[in-house]
Amino acid sequence: MASHAEPLDVARVRDDFPFLDEMVHGRPPVYLDTAASAQKPRAVIAAIRDAYEHGYGNVHRAVHHFGHRATEAYETARNDIALFINAQSADEIVFTRNATEAINLVAASYGRSALRAGDEVVVTEMEHHANIVPWLMLRDRHGIVLRVAPVDDRGIIHIENLAALLSDRTRLVAVTHCSNVLGAVTPVRDIVRLAHDHGAVVLVDGSQAIVHQAVDVRDLDADFYVFTGHKLYGPTGVGVLFGKGNLLAAMPPYQGGGEMIERVSFDMVTFKDPPHRFEAGTPPFVQAIGLAAALRYLTAIGIGRIADHERSLLTHATAALEDIDGVRILGSAPEKAPILSFTMDGVHPLDLAVVLDRAGVAVRAGQHCAEPLMRRLGIDGAVRASIGVYTNRADIDALAAAVRRARKVLI
Ligand code: ALA
Repeated sequence: MASHAEPLDVARVRDDFPFLDEMVHGRPPVYLDTAASAQKPRAVIAAIRDAYEHGYGNVHRAVHHFGHRATEAYETARNDIALFINAQSADEIVFTRNATEAINLVAASYGRSALRAGDEVVVTEMEHHANIVPWLMLRDRHGIVLRVAPVDDRGIIHIENLAALLSDRTRLVAVTHCSNVLGAVTPVRDIVRLAHDHGAVVLVDGSQAIVHQAVDVRDLDADFYVFTGHKLYGPTGVGVLFGKGNLLAAMPPYQGGGEMIERVSFDMVTFKDPPHRFEAGTPPFVQAIGLAAALRYLTAIGIGRIADHERSLLTHATAALEDIDGVRILGSAPEKAPILSFTMDGVHPLDLAVVLDRAGVAVRAGQHCAEPLMRRLGIDGAVRASIGVYTNRADIDALAAAVRRARKVLI
């Protein structure tokens, strides 16, 4: 992978994040839970504040100055997001509440209109619940058949195992671009090609991947690509559904309400074109503006530079944790995002996370909304340390030292 001449100046980046001024149990914070939700840079907080202070009014409804300003900022954000993922048009960008809602939208709208009872949807063993439960609900309500592609212990989807599940009954493949537990990056381009050869469409859950690598939906040829704002250094309450224009155009609305209609009477209703057809009610427009600010912030630093920085920290963290007795790292895919899940022999992950928190080290522990994957790995849960743009080597060293100390306390 390309390396970037000027390495990331992490000290400078850290100055952009006010959470680092906090103290946690008397210590500066070591935040290693970015995969659950990223901390926010001042640029995002300022954009949100500016939208509320200077340009706030409801979008697409008002004729007044404030409504115009907010509408323009909201639609500019849509355009910025389209550019960020190289969508063909801003009309292919639907704002949702989060990635979960984006997948539910596709399952409800595309699923119920384009799929018939007996049609097959393929997922993988390492999906987040957000990319399992909507399809289970579609199975129970609509009669689709869910097929599950295996992953190996390293977190690799072997394309021939996936191919063995595909047939002319396969109508949709829903796959993560990066496991939120194993960090494994999946071969999305190959999966899309294979699915398209069988006439199936592909939905990619990009919630974790887009935080750590450039995403080009046209290069991937993904039919649907979803992600959430809050993991991408943007605000909570906003997610994105990218859908190819021809697919969105054929899909019925997901929810009904204001601003998604053309005409309404008590006898009939007609709907707007996408994306507005899928944005019933007041949308999360301030959040969308904040998300666009996050993308500008990341682009200014350089996505490739961030990826290089995070990759080197992942290597350092892997070596540091591997060196600790009783620690087992989960997932060793050759292409791995900076997400490091591990177990410690004889210690419950939640106990370990609580002890780490007392040392000022924030990690996530439990099943990580991936219960089927936990079962596949034969574990009840794991601790997960995840790296972000603001993480430095001292954070990793603090994690390793705290894990060593915790082992002495807990065993
Ligand atoms: N989906 C988020 C995670 O993996 C919350 O932690």
